[in-house]
Amino acid sequence: MIDAAGIGDVRRELERIGCLSSTSPSFQNQLLSYLDMNADRGDFLVEVGCFRGGLTAQLAYFAREAGKDLFVVDVDPKYLNMARETVTRALGGLPSCVHFVQADLRNFLARPRPSDRCVLLFIDGDHHYDGVVRDIRAVLDSGLERPLSICFHDYGLRYTARDHLDVRVDRAIHDLLGDHAVIPIGEVAGFSGVMPTEPVVADSGAHFESGASEGVVVVLPAAQTVARRVDRPEGGRVRRLLRSTLPAGVRRTLRSALAGPRR
Ligand SMILES: C[S@@+](CC[C@H](N)C(=O)[O-])C[C@H]1O[C@@H](n2cnc3c(N)ncnc32)[C@H](O)[C@@H]1O
Repeated sequence: MIDAAGIGDVRRELERIGCLSSTSPSFQNQLLSYLDMNADRGDFLVEVGCFRGGLTAQLAYFAREAGKDLFVVDVDPKYLNMARETVTRALGGLPSCVHFVQADLRNFLARPRPSDRCVLLFIDGDHHYDGVVRDIRAVLDSGLERPLSICFHDYGLRYTARDHLDVRVDRAIHDLLGDHAVIPIGEVAGFSGVMPTEPVVADSGAHFESGASEGVVVVLPAAQTVARRVDRPEGGRVRRLLRSTLPAGVRRTLRSALAGPRR
């Protein structure tokens, strides 16, 4: 179980140094709890878009305690440096499991990594429709093992400024991942005063679609063979039929591959 007192200390230090995350405390709590409950699913986690490191420090705390690696990915070296400094101050030192990478998600995923088992990808970088689509396509092309959890922040974010009218995290998710369940996480705009539903910042007009959640989690399921989808668990008839059409050598190779490595 994650050490709540330890996270409390990290948050107090973040507040003291003026580096709180732009995510809400509810969002942070649910994200950390999700990570804690699913820690066994992978060896590392990724934050895309760190800004000043307000969430990075909490993810770094989790990674250090859980024995995972944390990759902090941002296109802007200025924010990577700020986040590194924030983690160092909030945790009283920089854990060796935290790695800062200047890249976008596709370039990061093209690099060597410790394994293909990712606990969670947290995406909070480019919120424009095309940017979110790029990130999702990078994940789908990545070869990361399934089931794979992806968390997006700023799901229902909107702007009134002309340059940002195409900020549509929600639309990109539903266009590309609409076949999957989309699970809300964090606050809901309009249910409390935390997320403004009307433009408040004069120049950009940032606000949230009323009723939309602050973020979402989408889990890409483990790939299933056609036979497994057709067969009922106790049946296996389609599987046997398909196997019987294969040459004996191929059947043997398949059987030993499915049996996994010998111990
Ligand atoms: C909303 S802030 C992140 C906030 C941070 N996660 C937090 O909780 O405080 C967005 C960050 O994404 C970075 N960014 C913008 N486009 C990006 C991209 N395509 N790939 C990676 N990072 C990006 C920006 O430099 C900025 O640091």
